[in-house]
Amino acid sequence: MNTRKTIAVMTGGGDAPGLNAVIRAIVKQGVTQLGWRVIGLEDSFDGLLESPMRFIDFDRDQVRGILTMGGTILGTTNHGDPFTFKTADGKTTDRSGEVMERLKLLGVEGLIAIGGDGSMAICSRLMRDHGLPVVGVPKTIDNDIPGTEITFGFDTAAAFATEAVDRLHATAEAHERVMVLEVMGRHAGHLALASGLGGGADVILIPEIPFRWEPVLGKLMRRRAHKRHFSIVVVAEGASPHGGAILQRINPGGSRSLGGIGEHVADEIARRTGLETRCTVLGHLQRGGTPTPHDRVLASRMGHHAVELVRTGAWGQMVAVRQNRMESVDLAWLLTQTSRQLPLDDDGIATARSIGICFGDETE
Ligand code: F6P
Repeated sequence: MNTRKTIAVMTGGGDAPGLNAVIRAIVKQGVTQLGWRVIGLEDSFDGLLESPMRFIDFDRDQVRGILTMGGTILGTTNHGDPFTFKTADGKTTDRSGEVMERLKLLGVEGLIAIGGDGSMAICSRLMRDHGLPVVGVPKTIDNDIPGTEITFGFDTAAAFATEAVDRLHATAEAHERVMVLEVMGRHAGHLALASGLGGGADVILIPEIPFRWEPVLGKLMRRRAHKRHFSIVVVAEGASPHGGAILQRINPGGSRSLGGIGEHVADEIARRTGLETRCTVLGHLQRGGTPTPHDRVLASRMGHHAVELVRTGAWGQMVAVRQNRMESVDLAWLLTQTSRQLPLDDDGIATARSIGICFGDETE
């Protein structure tokens, strides 16, 4: 009989640079140092529910060379909720009991779930309804998970978006255009603020501050009056004009994604000012690529801390960073929270304002 401690690890929701670094840290410490069996569930819970089950029985060779890789070697899905599993005929059925049976069959005594708020909710429900011990590791490029000051993936995405602003500067100046860049971030402006401030944008529009057109257009026209014949506007996908709706796209298959506000802002600027304006939507380019050194380190530290929580039996916790220290928060508490937006008195917003960046709420 296998007496080794056995844990499962899975990645859920949208990918973020650094997922593989977390998996690597968990496997290296768990398997190599502690002698555990670490089973990687493929495509969130989907692989577990197939016959035969799809999973990786990790040995350390399987995590060689993955530190610098984007994506996730385990695969992931946004639709991996076993409580509302989609059947071939488009209906939904509860397969959470099967998940538990199959984990038991594999001898799994607990799960490390690396995911965003959706994955944390699913795993908390598995813990509450079925008694599955869970430790969570937060991931998202949006940096909007409550309880932790930072998530891995954010730094990489922010660096890429900042480089995009840099590149737009050159072409904007050459053509004397207004360049609008739409970045991700869901209902939080962390990515827009970081890339807008880091790249030297003239206007930053974020979900936390509904904007009005007059201050935005006023800023662009003043720049022209001061012989600055180009401008850069960074727009978060969740930003909206005062009293206006948050724009969404309907994907093939019916799911919805935030987006479209960049085009709308560019069209309105062109229509209302006559300035030549173009829009770039960075989209999923922000999620790919090799993690920055910051994210590799953060992800590795989070993986290590998750193992420590398992080792000490601190189930029901999510790894969290506070004042650059690895701590944890209660998963049950997490579920009562909404996404972590920028506070209006954020230092970054104050800094941006102090150097003349417009957020669209200024009184002229
Ligand atoms: O949460 C990460 C994220 O990239 C958001 O910034 C964005 O709104 C969303 O995922 C896009 O999701 P999808 O990959 O399903 O289009």
